[in-house]
Amino acid sequence: MPLTASGALVGAQDVESEVPLDEPIIVTIDGPAGTGKSTVARMLAKRLGLDFLDTGAMYRAATAIYLDSKLAKEETGELLSTVMGADIHFDWSQDPPVLLAWDDPMTTRLREWDVTDNVSWVSSLGELRHHMVRKQRIIAAQHPRLVTEGRDQGSVAFPDAPVKFYLDADASVRAQRRIEQLEMDGLEVDADSMLERILNRDELDSTRADGPLMCADDAIRLDTSDLTIDEVVDTLEAEVRARVPALASKDG
Ligand code: DC
Repeated sequence: MPLTASGALVGAQDVESEVPLDEPIIVTIDGPAGTGKSTVARMLAKRLGLDFLDTGAMYRAATAIYLDSKLAKEETGELLSTVMGADIHFDWSQDPPVLLAWDDPMTTRLREWDVTDNVSWVSSLGELRHHMVRKQRIIAAQHPRLVTEGRDQGSVAFPDAPVKFYLDADASVRAQRRIEQLEMDGLEVDADSMLERILNRDELDSTRADGPLMCADDAIRLDTSDLTIDEVVDTLEAEVRARVPALASKDG
């Protein structure tokens, strides 16, 4: 049985629908919190036989490092050198890839409240963003068949990506999705403040000077408010196949 680029065994039927192994392709998915980006990006990557990069996890890791090292807000130079020293990277043998800092896995820490509440501030630091974008490009060079999701993947990190998506949804729908996601992760949720937190994070993420949340001019925009995850993935998969000649074969 053949292997995908990520090393997984696949059946003959799957191979036909995946990107040929020698074909590099970057698909970017950007959008605000709670649009289902991570789940959608993972599922899309699986269907197409590509790797999946969660860039939000990288900013969350930097935020956990900031909080756990008890640095003051003004110590931004120290924060950057500590984050650089942690050598944030992924263990690609896991599905989904597990983020490591100082070679230790960071699992539920990334989703804890203090990290979520501080991540917009940490990810507004220009030098830190440049460091992360550099890392993302190195990752893409090592994993050139990639679905990457975040806020600035189509606009800043990979402006030449052949297929870009921007997912959006009503804030109230996004808040409800986040609540369900956190509950599934076994974390306690204060439902009343979720909408406020989401709106606050949107505001901070879209007004920062470096790599703000934005829809790239050439991105395909999709409102997911009334769509199921499967419907979103179906739509994205069809768009990728229509745009990438090597993928056109599935439906003829
Ligand atoms: O997708 P997420 O909720 O895990 O992202 C966490 C935060 O990281 C989000 O508030 C904004 C920031 N982020 C960013 O600034 N740029 C990215 N490419 C990805 C995430």
